Amino acid sequence: MCGIVGYLGPRQPKDVLVSGLRALEYRGYDSSGVAILDQGKLKRVRAQGKLIHLVEKLKNENFDGHLGIGHTRWATHGKPSERNAHPHCVGGISIVHNGIIENYAELKLNLLKGGAVFESETDSELVAHLIHNEVKSTQDLLQAVLKILPLLKGAFSIVTVWEEQPETLVAFKNGPPLIVGFGTDEFVVASDLQAILPYTNKIVYLDDFQVAYIHQSQFQLLDQKGHTLEFQTASIDWNSEQAQKGGFDHYMLKEIFEQPRAVANAILPHLDTEKFCLNLNSLKQSWTGAFKDIDLTQVERVLVVACGTSYYAGMLAKYWIESKVRIPVEVDIASEFRYRNPVLFLKTLTLVISQSGETADTLAALRLVKESGGPILSICNVPNSSIDREAHCRWYMNAGVEIGVASTKAFTATMALLYVFSLALAKIKMKLSSEQEQEAVKAILGMPSHMETVLAFDSFFAEVAHILTAVRGFLYMGRGIHYPIALEGALKLKELAYRHAEGYAAGEMKHGPLALIDSDMLVIMLAASDELYEKTISNLEEAKTRGAKIVSLGTGENEHLKSLSEHYLALPKVYQDLYPLVEVIPLQLLAYHVAVTLGNDVDQPRNLAKSVTVE
Ligand code: M6R
Repeated sequence: MCGIVGYLGPRQPKDVLVSGLRALEYRGYDSSGVAILDQGKLKRVRAQGKLIHLVEKLKNENFDGHLGIGHTRWATHGKPSERNAHPHCVGGISIVHNGIIENYAELKLNLLKGGAVFESETDSELVAHLIHNEVKSTQDLLQAVLKILPLLKGAFSIVTVWEEQPETLVAFKNGPPLIVGFGTDEFVVASDLQAILPYTNKIVYLDDFQVAYIHQSQFQLLDQKGHTLEFQTASIDWNSEQAQKGGFDHYMLKEIFEQPRAVANAILPHLDTEKFCLNLNSLKQSWTGAFKDIDLTQVERVLVVACGTSYYAGMLAKYWIESKVRIPVEVDIASEFRYRNPVLFLKTLTLVISQSGETADTLAALRLVKESGGPILSICNVPNSSIDREAHCRWYMNAGVEIGVASTKAFTATMALLYVFSLALAKIKMKLSSEQEQEAVKAILGMPSHMETVLAFDSFFAEVAHILTAVRGFLYMGRGIHYPIALEGALKLKELAYRHAEGYAAGEMKHGPLALIDSDMLVIMLAASDELYEKTISNLEEAKTRGAKIVSLGTGENEHLKSLSEHYLALPKVYQDLYPLVEVIPLQLLAYHVAVTLGNDVDQPRNLAKSVTVE
């Protein structure tokens, strides 16, 4: 999605904006631009395509002002082009916008009637026109923003400057995130922490319909009526080095290798590592608002809502919670859930999962559940993100910054957390004996080192990737807890390699997909040794008999499975429940190496964005 950066302070805005936009590249974009004060006028430079084109254009540009805004655009209204790139400027007003103005047609028509001339096809440009019309009478940027804010419908975060007020920057939003960073005598406003962290870790997240007014070295937070609001800055303990590639060729590869640490960081706050038991404080005592004294023994149902990879991680909650706690679990795709008039019970505990904490559909689903009055526990990676702030209880993936658009370490950290959550709920509901608790806690604590060992498949996939690029179709199959991993493996391949891949519950093959099988089809079979192993092998034989090539993942040295497969990958023997944490890693590496071999942009796959803040 689009990225926003604004700067007011003593540094060269050009440097801050370009480094901020670079930090936001991972969100996905198709053009970029900046508007910076120079000799009292806003000078705009924009370019289509990668940021490098903007940097090239800026090379010989100098600016003497200390105010500027920048943007990476992900096209929604109007094709990707320099003309449609932000900032949009009208008579000394310049704006950058993330989101969609839903009533743009009506607003634009009114502006056209009033004689406005539009130079782009975007919905965003009209905001510059609206503000420009207002400053003519108010002679003040803040007052102009307060006047136009009630007119805007939809999802937006906007930063605006006016060359007549060279030390003022105004930011406001409804929907997509906007963060103000407080440095020493300087401010960085951005849609993402990554652009702010090199300068400061002291931040304020704007809430919807709040307006940030930055004037000289003063900051004021206002509501949409212009009343001053109290605010508190938060300190974020991420640092900007964590967002570097650290010697790896791509962020994604670095993040794959960070998974053992990410899983450890996710689970440790919830475990007592000396007694090998659960630390229930994080679940029992950290509820807020109406649920401060929640009695979790009363929970009769669990609902999980999320999108994409977070949804696949959420699917595992169903297997683990239903088997351990013996209560029903429903897992829903947030974009479906929000529009299907779901039945919501008060005794339902809802888990809302989102790496970014900003996914528009997941946030809307959370708000829908909130209206029904039930308790909500969020699992997010980005602290203080919208979902994190709006939930009643907050758990963190603690995976560190995830830059690669294809989610990896957030997935494994979420699975580990969901496993711990299922144990904790089972314990609270008296469904877990101390022996079972100890055994499971020891098992999950041992997972990071098992995960280290499967990282060794990196070189295997680097070697065979060129063979895999020739494959026509990929079918990922698994049963039980391996089924969500089959779905996730297929998603990774689709988004990185742009190859057709499907994840299937192996038992479903006879109901249709078996017809797809021939010698051009590669089947990736998840066949770890558990109680479904024999059934999985039967499914594998059915595919093999029909000519499929097989890559199988099994436990240890399994000669039989090896003899059935073109390639056999031996996973370490782990606690049965926890195979998903080791078996997804080879699938991530497979997708990564096939994509690299194809020359694809691994960290920023085509058409995708890291944080999907519009629906
Ligand atoms: O930030 P979120 O976890 O809410 O994001 C949800 C999906 O957009 C995300 O997982 C997406 O599917 C990834 N690109 C998958 O790798």
